[in-house]
Amino acid sequence: MVSKALLRLVSAINRRRMKLLLVIAVVAYVASVWGNLVNMRSIQENGELKIESKIEEIVEPLREKIRDLEKSFTQKYPPVKFLSEKDRKRILITGGAGFVGSHLTDKLMMDGHEVTVVDNFFTGRKRNVEHWIGHENFELINHDVVEPLYIEGLAKRVGARLLLASTSEVYGDSFLVVGLSTVGQALYHAPEGVEVRVARIFNTFGPRMHMNDGRVVSNFILQALQGEPLTVYGSGSQTRAFQYVSDLVNGLVALMNSNVSSPVNLGNPEEHTILEFAQLIKNLVGSGSEIQFLSEAQDDPQKRKPDIKKAKLMLGWEPVTSHSVFGHQD
Ligand SMILES: NC(=O)c1ccc[n+]([C@@H]2O[C@H](COP(=O)([O-])OP(=O)(O)OC[C@H]3O[C@@H](n4cnc5c(N)ncnc54)[C@H](O)[C@@H]3O)[C@@H](O)[C@H]2O)c1
Repeated sequence: MVSKALLRLVSAINRRRMKLLLVIAVVAYVASVWGNLVNMRSIQENGELKIESKIEEIVEPLREKIRDLEKSFTQKYPPVKFLSEKDRKRILITGGAGFVGSHLTDKLMMDGHEVTVVDNFFTGRKRNVEHWIGHENFELINHDVVEPLYIEGLAKRVGARLLLASTSEVYGDSFLVVGLSTVGQALYHAPEGVEVRVARIFNTFGPRMHMNDGRVVSNFILQALQGEPLTVYGSGSQTRAFQYVSDLVNGLVALMNSNVSSPVNLGNPEEHTILEFAQLIKNLVGSGSEIQFLSEAQDDPQKRKPDIKKAKLMLGWEPVTSHSVFGHQD
């Protein structure tokens, strides 16, 4: 009896213990789940903070770019003179996105004219004229002038003049077409009644020039920048003359405004030896390149100097850009 009672007591105690243990286990489980939840939330909050700061890192430069873009929308164009309707010409420049053409575009736009550039971007670049895109006086047409543009007819109708620059240009009292595309002159047949001006352009240098045009100045600049030897053929005593692009542009405008219908040379007659060019460019670039003398090239003219008497006499034009960089003034 006693043992049975004892047994019941023990099992009663065990049951209670079991219950107690069970309660403790449940509490422990709930506590651990709760702890985990709290932990997870703080990890999550931490993670969210990290993600937010990562997003901020990525977004801030984009915001910066948007601010820059917004600024460029309120783009400031180079200053443009006001011209009355009477004085303002409509000018079409083929090849106007090229080196010379884009500088001519700049000059004519700043003088207050309306300029349409026609270019197929064969060697020209949109960025050469992009500072005018959106301006009310400017239009850019992507077109290959090999295909008809019907400008000659228009030129005749409005009494335009055509000015050829190694290629071709049209120009008139109210309308001007300037052909600076590299397509040959032969492609341009000025209709009867359209006045023609012809410019013979000599070596020109300046911003936007082609670095791979094979001319000595661009070759030397490239070699100096790349730390390669500046290659001089022969003794380097042969001379070349280069005009600055702004001088050429002024010459082209003077020619367009003149009555000279025969070809006119536009260049800078100031000669310098190839060796002088090499030394000057090496110094200006601050390059450690050597000057390397190679055997004389065949058909390399000893002198190449434009005769600009006619331009001086008939247009009152001559280059004004100083060559003082060579150590002496004009
Ligand atoms: N830069 C010089 O030192 C120099 C010297 C002598 C003569 N020239 C002559 O002056 C003119 C302009 O020279 P540049 O240095 O500015 O050359 P460039 O190559 O920079 O300009 C020529 C322009 O004509 C465009 N073009 C070519 N083919 C075209 C086509 N079929 N339709 C529409 N556009 C076309 C090109 O994309 C380019 O924008 C050229 O005729 C060149 O032969 C230049």
